[in-house]
Amino acid sequence: MVEKFLEGRGTLITGGASGFGRGAAYAFAERGADVVIIDNNEELLEETAKKVADKTGQKTIPIVCDVSKSDQVEAMAKQAFRELDNIYVLFNNAGIGIAYGKNICRVREEQWDKIMSVNLKGQWLVAKSLWRKMKAQKFDGEMLSGRIICNASLAGLKMNPKLPTYSITKVGVIALAKLLAKTLAPYITVNSIAPGFHVTGIYLDSVEVVETVLREERIQIPLNRIGTVEDVVELVVFLASPASTYITGQCIPVGGGLANF
Ligand SMILES: NC(=O)c1ccc[n+]([C@@H]2O[C@H](COP(=O)([O-])OP(=O)(O)OC[C@H]3O[C@@H](n4cnc5c(N)ncnc54)[C@H](O)[C@@H]3O)[C@@H](O)[C@H]2O)c1
Repeated sequence: MVEKFLEGRGTLITGGASGFGRGAAYAFAERGADVVIIDNNEELLEETAKKVADKTGQKTIPIVCDVSKSDQVEAMAKQAFRELDNIYVLFNNAGIGIAYGKNICRVREEQWDKIMSVNLKGQWLVAKSLWRKMKAQKFDGEMLSGRIICNASLAGLKMNPKLPTYSITKVGVIALAKLLAKTLAPYITVNSIAPGFHVTGIYLDSVEVVETVLREERIQIPLNRIGTVEDVVELVVFLASPASTYITGQCIPVGGGLANF
């Protein structure tokens, strides 16, 4: 049994149809939260929302939205606050990878624009659409009115020359989280997380794909295993929980030791 510390709390997860977002949707709902799940993959979104609702019995609302489009994000935010009384947790998570291997001098402009608009502008647009109401809401006996967790990457802490634009977007996400943390203190904690190599949709849900990348890059994970969705979801739950109310503006790596050696 897990502690239901999110009872009476709304949560919103972008990129929630798959990978870390889907894992967080289950985890938040299991802790008593109602969940709004955002994704631009409509079919997978409907399937995930149904499964989370069936398993947990919590209110689970799917909203189709491309986070890189401001008009869609504004409409999504209005609908989310119509569906839920409050949004206590935002897991700003939607993101895409991009063709591996091209160096920074060879990236095409349309690739640059695409990844910047989803991975970086998307997180900014979603936070911008929600912060005002998140800041104004009140919870009995609690000083904080909300929690934001932005999904960055180890590639934002240690530049990967074979993932140049992706790395730049993730440096930006870490900066975005720090700036939001200063701006929204003392009401909302804002932290970023930096996962390493985990089997999710970005790696076609394939251990072999991750193993190939690690082999080609000669990367040895100090804790000697590939990361799971749960490794990251545990950290996200911690950053949404009463155990982390004094932590804000930080970027926390979860990469089996890769960031530290
Ligand atoms: N998997 C890893 O090892 C790893 C490592 C570091 C960081 N990350 C980050 O984790 C986050 C989640 O990715 P994941 O690994 O769970 O992959 P994933 O592909 O399983 O999940 C990403 C989800 O985001 C959705 N999405 C993509 N573009 C969108 C858009 N424009 N609007 C709305 N939704 C959109 C996808 O449809 C998908 O459901 C990303 O920000 C990624 O950069 C992943």
